[in-house]
Amino acid sequence: MHDGSGRIAVQNLTKQFGAVTAVNNLSFTVDPGSVTGFLGPNGAGKTTTLRMLLGLVTPTSGAATINGRPHSQLGNPARVVGAVLENEGFHPKRTARNHLRVYAAAIGVPDQRVDEMLGLVGLAPAADRKAGGFSLGMRQRLALATALLGDPQVLVLDEPSNGLDPEGIAWLRTFLRSFAQQGRTVLVSSHLLSEVEQTIDQVVIVSAGMTRYYGPLEQLRASQQSRVLVQSADANALVTALREAGLNQVEPTPDGRVAVSGATVQQIGDISAKASIAVYGMQEEKADLEQLFFQLTSPQYGAGAPYQQQQQQQQPPPPPGWGGPPQGGFPQSGQQPQQPYQQTPPPGFQQPGQQQGWGGQQ
Ligand SMILES: Nc1ncnc2c1ncn2[C@@H]1O[C@H](COP(=O)(O)OP(=O)(O)OP(=O)(O)O)[C@@H](O)[C@H]1O
Ligand SMILES: [Mg+2]
Repeated sequence: MHDGSGRIAVQNLTKQFGAVTAVNNLSFTVDPGSVTGFLGPNGAGKTTTLRMLLGLVTPTSGAATINGRPHSQLGNPARVVGAVLENEGFHPKRTARNHLRVYAAAIGVPDQRVDEMLGLVGLAPAADRKAGGFSLGMRQRLALATALLGDPQVLVLDEPSNGLDPEGIAWLRTFLRSFAQQGRTVLVSSHLLSEVEQTIDQVVIVSAGMTRYYGPLEQLRASQQSRVLVQSADANALVTALREAGLNQVEPTPDGRVAVSGATVQQIGDISAKASIAVYGMQEEKADLEQLFFQLTSPQYGAGAPYQQQQQQQQPPPPPGWGGPPQGGFPQSGQQPQQPYQQTPPPGFQQPGQQQGWGGQQ
């Protein structure tokens, strides 16, 4: 039997579709009590990974387990894991209620649960309408109701926000957070960090079938360097004063301001006051998390064909700027940054070919 831990473990998972390596030695774990985002661009291998986890695709090598067991050995899997995958198929002529009743009977839950779930996902008014006439968002809600029928301990959702209206997205966010707070496990995929940023606590970022970052979202956020732009009466004098005060990331900007990293607004204000330099304004800038996500995953679409790289089993290059301080500084408005904003990779960064904590590569 399974261990009841609610833990998802993906270990050295690989899936080869002919010449295409969809998933390449992927490893991560998802623990109960938090919402984990499974993020990566189109074609990164998210759906394939989730399908392997749910026993719908056989791995080429490695393992994906829930509660310590492969899906096929879970006993009554609907009681352990609920899943919403892409393109859920519903019998078009069956009403939402009847669809759920069929599933409820199959997994041995009472019909009463069907109406509870219809109410929960906001489909009660459409309960007797045929699923064939449902909008994309309504189908997503019906798929979620189906996944929840067995009151599962683990929820796996592949791009669940697709088709949902803003109200539906907000509802889903609240629902997933409270579901996780009950000590359950939530793994939710998306190709857009911004879509799930407010929902997730942990993040697994994949690109070209490989892990690029794995850890708390907060840590990823903290790895981004913020800077303060200072408008002063004398930029050159301010640069000198700040450097003399021990700040070493101080640069004049082309528009006559001074960009300072590694110091607070208060520190900068105190130093300029001491040096008798008038300060007219300070602006705190935080780099965009989405930019960092893009840079972590963009090697997939970098120079050359990504699939060629995969076929040759090559690792993609590390994210640009890996391990070194940003050299180009912050981008001017309208420019793409040349370097990511983190100075050093935060703990949890997976240097390609150096997977840590899971026994590494064979
Ligand atoms: N059944 C299949 N046969 C052949 N190739 C496949 C199959 N399923 C997936 N692939 C390939 O595996 C790679 C990963 O696809 P996958 O659907 O897992 O990506 P994804 O991260 O879910 O992308 P998206 O964000 O677009 O949903 C792609 O190159 C895809 O073409
Ligand atoms: Mg997908």
